[in-house]
Amino acid sequence: MEFSESLHTIVTKRYSCRTYRQEKLSDDDRLELEAYMDDVPVPPFGSNVRLQLKAASPDDEKSLQNLGTYGVIRNPAGFIVGAVGEGEKNLEDFGFIMEHLILFATDMDLGTCWLGGTFSRSAFAGAIGLRHDELLPAVVSVGYPAKKKSMMDAMIRFSAGSNRRKPWEELFFDGSFHGRLDQAGAGMYADALEMVRRAPSASNKQPWRVVRSSDDSFHFYLDRTQGYSGSSKKLFGLLDLQRVDMGIAMCHFQRAADEMDLNGSWITDPESPLPGENREYLVSWKST
Ligand SMILES: Cc1cc2nc3c(=O)[nH]c(=O)nc-3n(C[C@H](O)[C@H](O)[C@H](O)COP(=O)(O)O)c2cc1C
Repeated sequence: MEFSESLHTIVTKRYSCRTYRQEKLSDDDRLELEAYMDDVPVPPFGSNVRLQLKAASPDDEKSLQNLGTYGVIRNPAGFIVGAVGEGEKNLEDFGFIMEHLILFATDMDLGTCWLGGTFSRSAFAGAIGLRHDELLPAVVSVGYPAKKKSMMDAMIRFSAGSNRRKPWEELFFDGSFHGRLDQAGAGMYADALEMVRRAPSASNKQPWRVVRSSDDSFHFYLDRTQGYSGSSKKLFGLLDLQRVDMGIAMCHFQRAADEMDLNGSWITDPESPLPGENREYLVSWKST
């Protein structure tokens, strides 16, 4: 589905919106979102992703109040709840699909926020009727952004350093992890990489690394934040959110490439450069 604005504009406009106006989704907006949910692309690794919009309806004002977000989200008009089936790369697929929806919602001038930690998994599992062979990695709040952020919202942004992104030299490489790739060197792929750089990630850790090789293949790696997944898993029973981040990065890259008519496909490339310590190879986008 086409956007009404450029991807660059949409990615610049998107931010984690945790404070909404006290306003329900209009019927038009709800129907437009639901139509897009029925039409999301097939994810790169073929997992089965199931999505549902839980919006407060006029005759059921309290329906969202039982869905807990620990006070992080104020006045949500709804939540996009997703479940993913089993599969080796299911969390990446989940991130890919959900981020497509977020970009679409942003284009509709809706505010959104990924919630992988500060939400009650059991309440949302009930809301979507989670099956025993499915996972519920995260949900996304949605609504009309309020002008002023709540104190909680401002505090979370400050502690995650949400306004900052890592510079190119920490994220993108040429040939191997020893080669530097700058915007000029990336040529027609510079925008696609810039869209990856600006993507949202859990606690703003930005774990994606990309190495370009001479045949215009882009190899995606997960650079794990040490102690992050392990300790959060222990604390909150979280799923591996950094794998969800990788799917989000793939979504931004793919959308940018599509917009610029750069043809390519996702493959697993045995020739991909050696990852090095703490880095895990995920996938390559190969130009065709
Ligand atoms: C997979 C994922 C999980 C997230 N989980 C939470 C969460 O539980 N609570 C929260 O307040 N923000 C959450 N966030 C939002 C991030 O903190 C935010 O994306 C990051 O700080 C960058 O800020 P920005 O989205 O405004 O650009 C999550 C983001 C992602 C991608």
